[in-house]
Amino acid sequence: MASLSSSPLSPYYHLLFTALAFLISFLIFVFSRKSGSKKLNLPPGPPGYPVVGNLFQVARSGKPFFQYVRELIPKYGPIMTLKMGTRTMIIISGADLAKEALIEKGQVFASRPRENPTRTIFSCNKFTVNAALYGPVWRSLRRNMVQNALSAARLREFRHVRDSAMDKLVDRLKSEAAANDGVVWVLRNASYVFWFGNGWELIEKVDQMMKTVLMVLDPRLDDYLPILSPLFSKQWKRVQEVRNQQIETLVPLIEKRRNAVQNPGSDKTAASFSYLDTLFDLKIEGRKSSPSNPEIVTLCSEFLNGGTDTTATAVEWAVARMIENPEIQTRLYDEIRTTVGGKKVDEKDVEKMPYLNAVVKELLRKHPPTYFSLTHAVTEPAKLGGYDIPTDTNVEFFLPGISEDPNIWSDPEKFDPDRFFAGREEADMTGVTGVKMIPFGIGRRICPGLSMATVHVNLMLARMVQEFEWSGHPDSGKVDLSEKLEFTVVMKNSLRAKITPRA
Ligand code: HEM
Repeated sequence: MASLSSSPLSPYYHLLFTALAFLISFLIFVFSRKSGSKKLNLPPGPPGYPVVGNLFQVARSGKPFFQYVRELIPKYGPIMTLKMGTRTMIIISGADLAKEALIEKGQVFASRPRENPTRTIFSCNKFTVNAALYGPVWRSLRRNMVQNALSAARLREFRHVRDSAMDKLVDRLKSEAAANDGVVWVLRNASYVFWFGNGWELIEKVDQMMKTVLMVLDPRLDDYLPILSPLFSKQWKRVQEVRNQQIETLVPLIEKRRNAVQNPGSDKTAASFSYLDTLFDLKIEGRKSSPSNPEIVTLCSEFLNGGTDTTATAVEWAVARMIENPEIQTRLYDEIRTTVGGKKVDEKDVEKMPYLNAVVKELLRKHPPTYFSLTHAVTEPAKLGGYDIPTDTNVEFFLPGISEDPNIWSDPEKFDPDRFFAGREEADMTGVTGVKMIPFGIGRRICPGLSMATVHVNLMLARMVQEFEWSGHPDSGKVDLSEKLEFTVVMKNSLRAKITPRA
């Protein structure tokens, strides 16, 4: 996903700019007071400095942003304000408030905020499902993605593709295991499943490029204090270079596909359908032209990024939890054996495995791959929990605040799939019958990949347990469950597992 605003600011920036920023703050403060605006009743939050607000407190804390927020919740409650330079962030961490915003007032809270200049370049001026303002462009793009790539019918149609991708995953695990003393970097392997088709070398090149893009998208100080942007001209140049590189890498692939679609039968290796095909002549409400090549690059990247790291992160945590608690793995393996005997697990079987489903649900509760949903914005001034929510504020949802709330969960700290398996607790992830955990968001902007992602995680986990026994790497000691923020919240020390093929 492209616009998570949850990355920590690199702490080294702040010392350099503090003095300068204070001076500028003071001047802007003096001027802005003169213009005098109506007093808003914003949610509470830690006191900050004029103009820079809490920006340097966050940077100076040296903590990942999600940790900083987590520690503020007991003091300020389930809705709070952080002023990050020129951006006001309102952070919601309570189930009732999330329901009020995303369900009851869903239409008003369904937009996205203004982008920083880097994101404007990579999103082609908000021309993606995830970044588009709530309106006709978003509707056209989302409808196309859902109907053509993620609908139940498409999911069924692509079953065989997923099956062969799973075989590839198993093969890769086997060969890496042989070459590498049974040690695998789980996250890396899991990522490859999503790049269906042949040509792994090319895929690695694209994968590398995507990572570079995510790196330049990391928030910078001048995103919050645009007045400092002249000091970041080197980084800005780099942003443009990376965007050009992204276009140069992907446009030839796009053109190759366009050619195959226009000349059926000319490329024998071409798959019968790809998401790309739906973009060439896509009609966008309110626009005459179909997407340009740079826009297609952006839309494809969104599709690839949206599902890859999120799903791979869930699988990495799954393996960590199985190694930490081998009973989970034994019970999963027993369930697989009882359900399919010696046959290879497929997607249909997965639906008949309640323990597996419970493990995956508990994973998404305890380790939602993104701790914040994508940033929302209101379409008009609104109220939430009695507070004012002005337009042009970043409305953030802190997901663990909900899925680990002791008022709605028993023993929320504990990783316990039995809470779902034994039916002690239930949760509807779509938010339709209640809000207790929202790893995919809820309401109008709910993740359109929800069904595909849950199928992937269930199936990958089932195949990985069916084929191999997973244990901790001998050098790694006890599994370290510390977290760190990359694009998703991954394991701080990347998991190293030892795998033994089952007899
Ligand atoms: C375990 C895997 C996944 C998780 C945890 C996840 C989570 C999320 C979350 C939290 C949001 C933000 C919802 C909001 O704005 O309130 C989101 C949006 C989105 N996700 Fe996912 N996602 C996953 C997989 C996927 C997959 C497989 C795809 C598609 C290939 C995908 C595509 C998107 C898109 C396009 C949006 C933007 C929707 C919009 O703004 O209308 N995601 N996802």
